Amino acid sequence: MAGGEPLSLLLLLFALVSLQDVKRKQPWRSRPSSGPTVFMVVMEDDPVISHKSSQKEVMRGEEAQKYKQTTRTKHDIFLDSLLPVGSYKKLYSYTHLINGFALQAKSKETVKILSGAKGVRFIQEDVKMSKMTTYTPRFIGANGVWPLLGGAEKSGAGVVIGMVDTGIDPSNPSFLSTSDQTKPPPSFKGTCQSGDRFPPDSCNGKIVGARWFGRAGQASGEFNATINYASPYDPDGHGSHTASIAAGNFHTPAISRGYNFGHASGVAPGAHLAIYKAAYSFGGYMSDIIAAVDQAVEDGVNIISLSLAPNSITSGPASFLNLLETQLLLATKAGISVVQAAGNGGPDANSIVSFSPWITSVAASTTDRKYNKTIITGNGKVFSCGGLSTSTPGETMYPLALADDVSNGNLTDGSSPSSCQDPNVFIRSLVQGKVIICMFASSSYYGSDYFVGIADTIQKIGAAGVIITDRSSKDVDIEYQPTFPTTIPSAIVINGADADALLDYYDNNLVRDADGTVTTFGATVRILEGRRASYTKEAPVVADFSSRGPDVDNAQMQASDVLKPNVMAPGHQIWGAWSPTSDSMAEFQGESYALLSGTSMATPHVAGVMALIRQRHPKWSPAMVMSAIMTTADITDRSGRPLTARRDEGGAVERATPFDMGAGSVNAARAVDPGLVFDAGYKDYLQFLCAVPGVDDGAVRRAVGAACPSPSRPRRWGSDLNTPSVTVASLVGSRRVDRRVTSVGAENETYMAYVQAPDGVAVRVSPETFAVAPGATATLRIVLNTTAPGNAFSFGEVVLKGDKKHTVRIPLAVYPAAVLGA
Ligand SMILES: *[C@@H]1O[C@H](CO)[C@@H](O)[C@H](O)[C@H]1NC(C)=O
Ligand SMILES: *[C@@H]1O[C@H](CO)[C@@H](O)[C@H](O)[C@H]1NC(C)=O
Ligand SMILES: *[C@@H]1O[C@H](CO)[C@@H](O)[C@H](O)[C@H]1NC(C)=O
Ligand SMILES: *[C@@H]1O[C@H](CO)[C@@H](O)[C@H](O)[C@H]1NC(C)=O
Ligand SMILES: *[C@@H]1O[C@H](CO)[C@@H](O)[C@H](O)[C@H]1NC(C)=O
Repeated sequence: MAGGEPLSLLLLLFALVSLQDVKRKQPWRSRPSSGPTVFMVVMEDDPVISHKSSQKEVMRGEEAQKYKQTTRTKHDIFLDSLLPVGSYKKLYSYTHLINGFALQAKSKETVKILSGAKGVRFIQEDVKMSKMTTYTPRFIGANGVWPLLGGAEKSGAGVVIGMVDTGIDPSNPSFLSTSDQTKPPPSFKGTCQSGDRFPPDSCNGKIVGARWFGRAGQASGEFNATINYASPYDPDGHGSHTASIAAGNFHTPAISRGYNFGHASGVAPGAHLAIYKAAYSFGGYMSDIIAAVDQAVEDGVNIISLSLAPNSITSGPASFLNLLETQLLLATKAGISVVQAAGNGGPDANSIVSFSPWITSVAASTTDRKYNKTIITGNGKVFSCGGLSTSTPGETMYPLALADDVSNGNLTDGSSPSSCQDPNVFIRSLVQGKVIICMFASSSYYGSDYFVGIADTIQKIGAAGVIITDRSSKDVDIEYQPTFPTTIPSAIVINGADADALLDYYDNNLVRDADGTVTTFGATVRILEGRRASYTKEAPVVADFSSRGPDVDNAQMQASDVLKPNVMAPGHQIWGAWSPTSDSMAEFQGESYALLSGTSMATPHVAGVMALIRQRHPKWSPAMVMSAIMTTADITDRSGRPLTARRDEGGAVERATPFDMGAGSVNAARAVDPGLVFDAGYKDYLQFLCAVPGVDDGAVRRAVGAACPSPSRPRRWGSDLNTPSVTVASLVGSRRVDRRVTSVGAENETYMAYVQAPDGVAVRVSPETFAVAPGATATLRIVLNTTAPGNAFSFGEVVLKGDKKHTVRIPLAVYPAAVLGA
């Protein structure tokens, strides 16, 4: 970013088809029980990253390669000596962050043998992972740009973002090489695996590395090379989409259905992308993803972006100790910032799927861009509706006709002609020049295939346009109106009252003869242009699907002393690159840009912001980068009002809490200059793990391979970790929480602490005023006392205001459980 220009992310927005009561949960797909079982096994021996060479230094280059090879061989010998030939297949040796392997075994007996074997530290069964887009209901339609101000093409230069996702389409304009990016930074050692639809020149400077990991998917029988491609090519679209959000080229036309919806830019258009394909249209497996992360760290990425999360909390002593979370801790230890989707299980509480304090977990918000499609009926009424399409020609009013009234009633599958899925049932002479009303069948949910079917039908029968409606639908806010992109004039009216008014108007202007045939279609309509966006100041708003805190310690859903999500970024109706060969969204088939929603889309926004921070501050630890993002986040919307959160698709919103949005909505311009940061390192995280209720030293040692540090005082809590937030899941009486801040400002600065105490809690911060020199640290003592016990978390904040214009905000989330002695 040049000259500290404010970085504004103008984002796009679109709408979500939300019909009936479709629950927006990730589908739980378990492995077929008859199939083979995959396990991940961690050995006692050192991985490359912690093995000290003869010079007592971390190994590099050839020495590391040799150690890696020896480790692999040792795994083979170990397995060969222990297990019958043919009873297993080793899928991967993990060597860099973890010393271990993934194993496909014919029976669970194998696990028993391994768990008793000398040299084995930890075993975990493989877990299915999901992409964090909201597939049900589907999102459709829209328009947009992310103009990134100030030297966009160079923003993020020298930083490599590792995308662990569904691959990438290297031919997408968002990933073409630019003159600023011809080769990877010298610290990056990754390679490019070429293959099907991924020619050797795909690594072009923008894309600096690409590999694919699919052995667990192959073992489960779900991987099919024809569909999933045995190369880093992205046949799904999700990986191209997320990569373009993080670091897509600046000012790339986002053209879909022949219309230029604006220009798309990544948040850090100057950053490089390293692609680790480890997820597929069928989902992904943790053992493949662990192999991808191991490789990404070995290659030298600076940031890992994961728009994937497990389908469930794995059993075990703590949510923080599953193999992926502990591997990401080791990645953090190696200096890599890790960002992950918080999940799409909202608005229910406890729906977070990214747990640990070393991971930046991202919630999703709406953006300030809205599409307002309107239709005007002959009686002068204006309806707001969905539909990202053109207008009916001219100022002409067109006769309206219900599909049932202009068809011959013959449908081969017995369904109503009003679903408009079959052009052959329409009477051509009756549809000419009319706008046809097609109906959602009530109580059924239709995905985008259904809309595509309608658009095809209307095109084929030569009608003037289409209105899709549903009498029984509920109240749906304009922002959640489906904005399905079509080339024909179309509008979707799913708001119950509007649908009734429209259909009543139609019925009241109809003349039928004795046998019911319509003789006069009296109702008329005009469909207006709906592809141009307007902007609102009531943004961002927490999206209803975005997963909510509190974070949990374990599968028993015990609330933890960790704030999740950490931060919020745009994730509702986001334009991004798309794979034209993908069939995962019917409305974007054949297109290079698509609109998607989900915490999947929010996550790479934060990865991009991390790249901007790391470009400016290459020496900052991952905790410092996370702190900068959190303490500078916005908690008011564009009109200055406190941020709100949606609980459903209606218009109702509530005041957002840190369990909805974390510290707030990411503000890239402020995040590069936070004033103070809360740092934490590997030892602090270990101490945190050792303080988690139900976790003993042995569990930590098995999961991480390190002993608990000796405690500095008798009882430690999760809340003692030096995070830019304070969460206390059960405040009994009083608790002291210390925080250490480090000045990253350029001048001496004096800060004053302002407290807004959560309900039922008294908060005292000392010192109230403190001065810090550049690079110096200061300790803050925060004492929390229960004054009025309640039965819910309550929220507050500590704000440190500096005299050099820095404002450092720390959210407080406290459950005042009991007054001491009561
Ligand atoms: C893989 O997919 C192709 C295309 O859909 C199909 O023809 C083929 O039968 C599939 N192969 C397997 C092994 O399922
Ligand atoms: C949409 O546009 C119409 C006509 O231009 C206007 O009457 C209506 O208030 C707008 N609705 C919203 C939600 O912006
Ligand atoms: C329905 O289909 C049958 C046979 O295909 C045809 O004879 C009949 O005329 C059709 N009915 C109408 C109303 O078009
Ligand atoms: C900060 O203040 C100290 C004295 O408290 C002074 O010695 C130092 O020069 C100041 N540094 C800057 C960068 O102003
Ligand atoms: C909290 O309670 C302790 C012990 O009762 C008391 O010493 C302290 O002043 C209280 N602090 C606040 C902020 O109320």
